[in-house]
Amino acid sequence: MKKIIIINGPNLNLLGKREPSIYGAESFDDFFTDLKQKYKGFDLTYFQSNIEGELIDKLQDVGFSYDGIILNAAAYTHTSVGIGDAIKAIESPVIEVHISNTFAREEFRHQSYISPNAKGVILGFGLQSYELALQSFM
Ligand code: DQA
Repeated sequence: MKKIIIINGPNLNLLGKREPSIYGAESFDDFFTDLKQKYKGFDLTYFQSNIEGELIDKLQDVGFSYDGIILNAAAYTHTSVGIGDAIKAIESPVIEVHISNTFAREEFRHQSYISPNAKGVILGFGLQSYELALQSFM
């Protein structure tokens, strides 16, 4: 069974409460419960942190043994050389996801330190972005 982890960055613990017009009204926990139920063929886990170094630690922990990483680095996408370097350093393929279409938003969200090192990028489909990323590992 393929081992896949979803890693969420800062403020994504507030999904459902946070700017629902952009990020939707569903909590990530509810979404993740449904996703696990629907894709029982994957060994699927989930990690969230608001702390950049903890995200890097997790990428290093899983990045030499997992079959895939689905990463929404949230605001760190646009700022973190460290997370970009971690993705370069590990072996597991990383799919970058975003809930919103970051290219339809402010200019500073158009820059990503994740994309150059990701296997692929999926954005703008709401929480479905994560499901599409998961399907890419089927
Ligand atoms: C986000 C987009 C980022 O620009 C933002 O900082 C987030 C969420 C998204 O999923 O749409 O926190 O990654």
